[in-house]
Amino acid sequence: MHLKTNNSLTYPTKSRSHPPAASGFWPCSTPRTPSADTWLPKKASRFMLLAEYGPGEGAVVEIGSFLGKSTCWLALGAKAAGREAITAVDYFKPMTFMATSEDPMDQAIAKAGSTLPFFKEHIRTFGVEDFVSPIVTDSRSAAEAWDGRQIRLLFIDGHHEYNSVKTDFSLWSPFVQQGGIIIFHDYCQSWPGVIQFYDEMMSSTDGYRELFTCHSMKVVAKS
Ligand SMILES: C[S@@+](CC[C@H](N)C(=O)[O-])C[C@H]1O[C@@H](n2cnc3c(N)ncnc32)[C@H](O)[C@@H]1O
Repeated sequence: MHLKTNNSLTYPTKSRSHPPAASGFWPCSTPRTPSADTWLPKKASRFMLLAEYGPGEGAVVEIGSFLGKSTCWLALGAKAAGREAITAVDYFKPMTFMATSEDPMDQAIAKAGSTLPFFKEHIRTFGVEDFVSPIVTDSRSAAEAWDGRQIRLLFIDGHHEYNSVKTDFSLWSPFVQQGGIIIFHDYCQSWPGVIQFYDEMMSSTDGYRELFTCHSMKVVAKS
């Protein structure tokens, strides 16, 4: 992957062998939701490459982890390169539809009253439980309690309404270092709020430079 980034940041040079491809994304005992594959299609493993080879040094923060799919990609990349662990911010609450869903996974989550046990099982399955720090609270509380560490990679994938994306960006982008990367997930017709916020933000500032689009992910660098 070729990344045009701020020259002041260093790139990791450590090489590594990639882990064997998982036969499915959820090689674990819990059933998966039919929609899981559409959230982050397999090509989103590029994601892992950003965590592995992306510029800068500092924290990797994910807003919105749900069952840990993207968390696993990020952690696999960062861990393979011997870089920073992943901070995974989510309140880990079941979604409202789950209580009445017929999907066995949804039912199990609703019964547990939390997505956290499933998240933990998934990061364990991928061998990255030592490389992920879940923060079990809302994005705002987590940002207010953040220790001020610079962030080199921020993944915004919480709620996708306009105000939520705007809030997550406003809360967390100040911690992103110059040249650091922000990924916005679900820039797509299903989520007009993400499109609206992203387009507004990019047209109202020259503080961010779009690097590339990967499926529904917009990847920018802070100028
Ligand atoms: C689209 S899902 C994340 C999917 C996950 N990144 C993946 O790729 O599998 C959104 C998640 O964001 C969480 N979320 C939404 N708004 C949040 C907020 N303000 N604070 C913390 N978590 C939030 C929800 O609980 C949900 O688990």
